[in-house]
Amino acid sequence: MISKKMNAALNNQVNAEMFSSNLYLSMSAWFSERSLTGFANWMRVQVEEEQFHGMKIYDYILERGGSVSLGSIDKPESNWGSPLKVIKDVAKHEAKVTALVNDLVDVALEERDHAANIFLQWFVEEQVEEEASVGEVLDKMKMIGDDSAGMFAMDMELGKRVFTPPSS
Ligand code: FEO
Repeated sequence: MISKKMNAALNNQVNAEMFSSNLYLSMSAWFSERSLTGFANWMRVQVEEEQFHGMKIYDYILERGGSVSLGSIDKPESNWGSPLKVIKDVAKHEAKVTALVNDLVDVALEERDHAANIFLQWFVEEQVEEEASVGEVLDKMKMIGDDSAGMFAMDMELGKRVFTPPSS
């Protein structure tokens, strides 16, 4: 059984993951509307990853005999000035999520919930990958700048990304 505090913190994280999913879906639409289908695909894979994260926590709450309580999800932004701005926002958002995961680990330690702490270590590692993945895209986009041939090649590359459920 998990404590009320741990349960509430995990419920909040389910919501945060679902917000991430909606934010990335909004970004995917923004790219699709501009015929940047590779970028749109890359964002759709992000959407699936966030849903995977949310459901992993959802299942864990139930496994521990806790209670799932879903809250409302804030409206995500829908307008960005440029593809670079979108990707910069993804990087910023992932840094925020990393901070949330770290806060969750703090709660697990305060509650002396060693099982939750072990469970959350998966997310700690996942965030390292998440930040590295968007960081790579961001670095390449900065190199490309305003070069349209570079953007075209980048769009082709991002179109190849497929969702593979992260290993547990
Ligand atoms: Fe669920 Fe992209 O972190």
